[in-house]
Amino acid sequence: MPVDQLHSRRQFLQTFGFSAAALFAGRFNLRAAARVDAQAEHMFLLGDWGAAGSIDPQRQVAQAMGSYAREQNIAPSALFLLGDNFYGQLDGGAACPRWQTQFEEMYPPSQFRGPCYSLLGNHDYNVEPAGKAEAQLAYAAAHPGTRWTMPAKWYRFDFPQDRPLVTFLALDSNYQKATPEKLSLNAEERTAQAMWLKAELAKPRTTRFLVVCGHHPLYSNAGDSSVLIAEWDSLFREHSAHLYFCGHIHDLEHLEFDGHPTSFIVTGGGGTTLREKQTYKSTALNRFSEGVHGFTHLQITDERLVIRHIDGDGRQLHAFAKTPPGNVELL
Ligand SMILES: [Fe+2]
Repeated sequence: MPVDQLHSRRQFLQTFGFSAAALFAGRFNLRAAARVDAQAEHMFLLGDWGAAGSIDPQRQVAQAMGSYAREQNIAPSALFLLGDNFYGQLDGGAACPRWQTQFEEMYPPSQFRGPCYSLLGNHDYNVEPAGKAEAQLAYAAAHPGTRWTMPAKWYRFDFPQDRPLVTFLALDSNYQKATPEKLSLNAEERTAQAMWLKAELAKPRTTRFLVVCGHHPLYSNAGDSSVLIAEWDSLFREHSAHLYFCGHIHDLEHLEFDGHPTSFIVTGGGGTTLREKQTYKSTALNRFSEGVHGFTHLQITDERLVIRHIDGDGRQLHAFAKTPPGNVELL
């Protein structure tokens, strides 16, 4: 999009306020929604899904994922679960019945054949009653054949497996202060992840796109993270990361900077309490933000990535495309 249009949108946001702008964006994009390409590769992403207490909102989003896929005549090749996978108690760790009710049965293999890539959120580090991070790292080994894919706290994979178009880097963003009840990455792990990330980014990349995922946002309408910005923003710029997906904020967002190669996407509406009251506190340019349950659809072809925010009724709220050179176009 030309810079003058970006500036006029910024003026609109400043003049009329965030809520009106979000409504405008939703209506505009419903009218202008681009067709889903059934021949492309597809992945669904969602964060903050493993609700404690009522799981009705999680079920609603899961059912919307299934109905949307059927209506669009697509079968996503993978899910990406962006952390806060289990709020509350995980009694029995990898043997807890919640694995069946809130993962295996909630996102059934008949609709989501997998793999289901996953990473850790802050709630996943809580000791409830024991370490939930260790349980999640152990689940795949304890359940051979599961789609749950968390080989380490940070890892790399190319997607799709048979003809890779995107390099994914899954990161652990848990840099919060640790307590005995709420753990976090320790100093040695932070150093090891930083060295690993720089080494991975330095490797020649044969795929057309680079996508980074973590649980916490660098930028979001709830405020920016100076810690994560200091850790990662310059690397995203230097290596032209196309997208950064995260959750943690319980809404759906799309943020941009003029001249920044990376689009910042929050998809934290997977099933728990929403951030309904929207106040905009980021230094980034808000392209979309709405406190709703939902998920994000990533469509991949050689020519472009298409990112769509879909709500808990299966309706597209916002969409944009990104090309290999990094051009962004609202759809
Ligand atoms: Fe979180």
